[in-house]
Amino acid sequence: MPKVSDLFFKTAVVWFILGIGAGLQMAISGDHGSFPAHAHINLLGWVTSAIFGGYYALNPAKAERKIAMIHYGLYNVGLVIMLPALYLMLHEGYTALEPVVAAGSLMVAAAVLIFALVVFSSAGVRSASALSAATR
Ligand code: HEM
Repeated sequence: MPKVSDLFFKTAVVWFILGIGAGLQMAISGDHGSFPAHAHINLLGWVTSAIFGGYYALNPAKAERKIAMIHYGLYNVGLVIMLPALYLMLHEGYTALEPVVAAGSLMVAAAVLIFALVVFSSAGVRSASALSAATR
């Protein structure tokens, strides 16, 4: 498995554990006020990261490109800024954290644009087909 896929999957599992923790906390306390943070930890942190990891595992030539690691780094720095701030904002009522959530969200959005560039770019596709032709 390419390194970037391994990293995406390992980080995804950490987010999954945190997301489930936030879900259990709501279920046990009966206070569901932080459900948007729980939903984003699970969907951006766990589900989307696992999809990214799967994509790079299926496209190893693209996974070797430097931009894949930039995508991984920017996405996760964005999540680390955005998700705890979103949770504290909803759960503890720290509304002053809104600009922090916004800054993290913009980094996550930028990382998604980088992923779009990776997907639509023909770099990596050519080298993969050249490799399979050479090994035939
Ligand atoms: C042990 C695991 C989980 C527990 C205990 C849990 C618990 C909860 C609770 C208590 C709510 C609030 C429901 C409400 O007030 O309407 C909620 C909402 C939500 N959860 Fe989870 N959850 C778990 C796993 C997951 C996973 C794995 C995902 C996604 C991959 C997920 C996605 C969502 C979403 C999207 C909502 C918002 C639904 C809405 O808009 O009402 N949850 N969860």
